[in-house]
Amino acid sequence: VDQRPASEFENNDQKPVGHGRMLRKEDPRFIRGKGRYCDDVQLPGMLHLAILRSPVAHARIVSIDTSAAEAHPKVKAVVTGAALAEMGLAWMPTLSGDVQAVLATDKVRFQGQEVAFVVAEDRYAARDALELIDVEYDVLEPVIDVRRALDPGAPVIRDDLDGKENNHVFDWETGDEAATEAVFAAADVAVTQDIVYPRVHPAPMETCGSVADYDRIDGRLTLWSTTQAPHAHRTLYAIVAGLPEHKIRVIAPDIGGGFGGKVPIYPGYVCSIVASIVTGKPVKWMEDRSENLTSTGFARDYIMRGEIAATGDGRILAIRTNVLADHGAFNGVAAPVKYPAGFFGVFTGSYDLQAAYCKMTAVHTNKAPGGVAYACSFRITEAVYLVERLVDCLAYELKMDPVELRVKNFIQPEQFPYKTKTGWVYDSGDYEPTMRKAMEIAGYDELRAEQAERRARGELMGIGVCFFTEAVGAGPRKDMDILGLGMADGCELRVHPTGKAVVRLSVQSQGQGHETTFAQIVAEEIGIPPADIDVVHGDTDQTPFGLGTYGSRSTPVSGAAAALVARKVRDKARLIASGMLEVSVADLEWQKGSFHVKGDPGKSVTIQDIAMRAHGAGDLPEGVEGGLEAQICYNPENLTYPHGAYICVVDIDPGTAQVKVRRFIAVDDCGTRINPMIIEGQVHGGLTDGVGMALMEMIAFDEDGNCLGGSLMDYLIPTSLEVPDWETGFTVTPSPHHPIGAKGVGESATVGSPPAIVNAVVDALKPFGIRHADMPLTPSRVWDAMRGAPQPP
Ligand code: CDP
Repeated sequence: VDQRPASEFENNDQKPVGHGRMLRKEDPRFIRGKGRYCDDVQLPGMLHLAILRSPVAHARIVSIDTSAAEAHPKVKAVVTGAALAEMGLAWMPTLSGDVQAVLATDKVRFQGQEVAFVVAEDRYAARDALELIDVEYDVLEPVIDVRRALDPGAPVIRDDLDGKENNHVFDWETGDEAATEAVFAAADVAVTQDIVYPRVHPAPMETCGSVADYDRIDGRLTLWSTTQAPHAHRTLYAIVAGLPEHKIRVIAPDIGGGFGGKVPIYPGYVCSIVASIVTGKPVKWMEDRSENLTSTGFARDYIMRGEIAATGDGRILAIRTNVLADHGAFNGVAAPVKYPAGFFGVFTGSYDLQAAYCKMTAVHTNKAPGGVAYACSFRITEAVYLVERLVDCLAYELKMDPVELRVKNFIQPEQFPYKTKTGWVYDSGDYEPTMRKAMEIAGYDELRAEQAERRARGELMGIGVCFFTEAVGAGPRKDMDILGLGMADGCELRVHPTGKAVVRLSVQSQGQGHETTFAQIVAEEIGIPPADIDVVHGDTDQTPFGLGTYGSRSTPVSGAAAALVARKVRDKARLIASGMLEVSVADLEWQKGSFHVKGDPGKSVTIQDIAMRAHGAGDLPEGVEGGLEAQICYNPENLTYPHGAYICVVDIDPGTAQVKVRRFIAVDDCGTRINPMIIEGQVHGGLTDGVGMALMEMIAFDEDGNCLGGSLMDYLIPTSLEVPDWETGFTVTPSPHHPIGAKGVGESATVGSPPAIVNAVVDALKPFGIRHADMPLTPSRVWDAMRGAPQPP
């Protein structure tokens, strides 16, 4: 529900940011089927790689017989962990400083783990030959129930690590335990709730894959891969494989969705590199859907006990939580090094608290590694879910309206920048207008009246509210790095003699429309129309260093870099213009696209004129070099803190317990809005994701560690049939430290929608005396909740 007049959505070269509802520059190729994804890469003589995976969750490898596979007429190589060990490549570092087996050498530690690979002339032969490999496993007792992982005598999963005698990964705490205890002791009300955020999977449309092409003559490796972070991956390949970094080129072509799942380096990428080195040919690896669901990075898997303390009249005083985190067999969490629990510290939400404390224990289990930031800024999704469920539990106990309770406790606009009790500094926010706008669009009071009428008739209608604050844009180098690589972003802008430009980014789009929005940012700053600005990304040979796209960091970090590099070019253009117009720099005024002499608008030069002069004949002002280009590396001073108010309306069929999302209202505030249409698309996608997580999705395991969600027949993801027509709105609270005031938005809706949906379902079940039910709220779970049956662990 964008209430602005249609004229504001037309392309407007004078006002490219915010007003330009520019159609996406990348769409002509996507809608014509001309996108170029990893699997579209075809190279002469290319071979195909397939991976043999463990059928069991925990077993010692007794022997591997590859002779029959090697004898297959189309097979070129069969490689096992033992062979990789000889090359020193059997293990690789994970993003969180653990090590992960590229191919298992001693034991397999989760079902689906990589055991061996085959390289063959075609994909079918490679797959056929996998069946000819004979592995003898000595099956061990697996650790599947995370609550039993630290039991005395539990099997030790990571006996590869020196001196490891249990399955403990880390303990972490934040906030002030004693101060929080004191506030709880004195509070009128304290509510405790156990809350599970189940294991889910990003499940992008395109699975993971790579094409490695190692040139033995000049020692150059070119790797096309489904990566969200090409530069960081290149550096890690250089470190792990000992290849010189300048001889490695990582190309991330078009990517069919990443959602955080394409941040880690997966064994398959490394296998394809090894295969190309071994065979001297280009080698392609593309995993299938089941491989993707069972072996690439999962998300969430937090078991949380939350406590909230308040006064009797609903002033929230403190929040405390204890979390048990399942990290799978290898700690593959993607988060800045200083933050083993990601940005979970933001569990204090949008509320002005007196104290807060979190204690977390992370453990290994015999499940796939992960903990990736699935459409979320490093565990913010879990944090927002916790606090927004707790606030609803408190509202239930106090018999207060959940909106009223939230508004009463909001951090006030004059309190920003606001330091939370866990140390985060929220840059800006004005929460109540956003909440009120959502209520207005929803017709909140009317909805409550309708609910009362329906309840009186025995119908189950629920209204759920979520108000979230995210922390996005990792991040300041003083605090944030991934494996020692600072989280700054480079950007380069080159204006050609005819005034057309190329901007080169270190971030990498996976469908977010960067080719459009980054052109808009540069256009806004330098006055060249967006259509005349090409955006280059996803190729380490073509772009400056930076850490890539995840955690909604592109706009806060790289977007800022794009604005600043354009300003740098504009500063140089001003010097050249002063020479052309024969006035001092101080006598020049900038008006989108041209400089004119102050008080004499007729005497002007356009940016295109200046570009030609910068490259052309004739003198430039003293000290000014030819050319019109600049490069910067932007180190953000803080994260940006977008917020949003979501309201969900559900109906539950009392006969089948099926939940139907009838309406969903999302009002987002991401500061300055660059492209309203793209923002809307991001929000629609995230909300749809939220329906999946709240109602349908879970990667479950049986007691032997068999993954029960290994295909899209079992792992349900939402379609257009499960979602309503989204109703969106916005408010604008610019970020004070971002050059154009923009905050990230790519993941807001994935973060904010699950709590709104669950709160709505629980609200619908209020007549049954239910205060909480765990996701995914499938019909059977809702049915059990209605019947008072115990919830699954
Ligand atoms: O890092 P990622 O691209 O996934 O997330 P983002 O920075 O939040 O941006 C997602 C898309 O929304 C990009 O195309 C942004 O340029 C666009 N966006 C926008 O138009 N205005 C904003 N204030 C934030 C993002």
